[in-house]
Amino acid sequence: MTQPSCEHLDFKIIHVLPLSGAAGAEVFGVNLSEQINDETLEEVKRAYHRFGVIFFRDQQVSDLDLARFAKYFGELAVLPPHRQHPGSLPELLVIDKKPETKLVFGWEWHSDTTHLEIPPLGSVLAAKLLPTVGGDTLFANQYLAYETLSDGMKNMLNGLNAIHSNGRILSSLEADDVLAQGQGVGSNKTTLSAIHPVVRTHPETGRKALFVNEMHTERFEHMTIAESAPLLRYLYDHSTRPEFTCRFRWAPGSVAFWDNRCLQHLALDDYQGQRRLMHRVQIRGTKPV
Ligand code: SIN
Repeated sequence: MTQPSCEHLDFKIIHVLPLSGAAGAEVFGVNLSEQINDETLEEVKRAYHRFGVIFFRDQQVSDLDLARFAKYFGELAVLPPHRQHPGSLPELLVIDKKPETKLVFGWEWHSDTTHLEIPPLGSVLAAKLLPTVGGDTLFANQYLAYETLSDGMKNMLNGLNAIHSNGRILSSLEADDVLAQGQGVGSNKTTLSAIHPVVRTHPETGRKALFVNEMHTERFEHMTIAESAPLLRYLYDHSTRPEFTCRFRWAPGSVAFWDNRCLQHLALDDYQGQRRLMHRVQIRGTKPV
């Protein structure tokens, strides 16, 4: 992902409209409900690597269409049984914020499921039902987060690993009574954790990105939570500085596809009392290095 600008974007088939100076672009000229030919796919992949997250408008996509599109980028990640939705694809996550529930799934900055040994490569998310206003999603460029650190900080972080866990998510779900009702995004209380490098190298672009996030990262390896907290706090604030972000306003038919290896994202909690229904599939990643 390089920083978008008004430069000639070098796309011949698709039309690409950058969303901010840091990340994200809307892509026009692709119909996700059909097969995508090789030339178009090459440009879509190029846009994806360049902007980190790409958005499509006015798509009429079924769950199978989402899955077919995701498979151009790798194998689908199967969900654990307790997160699967009866009668739908085993890879489909239904994110259904009902008017009566409080918790907004993805409510704080994170990369997806970094408590797993192999977090997903990326996610494809389609809007099904939206609030009248609100429910935007924010993305932050983690290449920029890394590149704007001092050399001293970069050197120190390059030698560190961090422990990631889903403990905070489980507590929040429990507080929202979702676990008790056995519905929503998770009804399994198992705490999982994984160790990842604090700075990871993107396997396709070769660029380094900061890889800690407030939702999952607990502490640095070989340090206590208390010892880790001040530097982690600094990194969370730094990595989500407004100038590293873009903000996407959903509309019916919108689809987003983000790279989980070099972006964080956050689903805004600003539509309480309304429903927002999204369908997501994920692509299997590789172990962060
Ligand atoms: C997520 O964190 O994957 C959900 C993002 C969203 O609902 O906007």
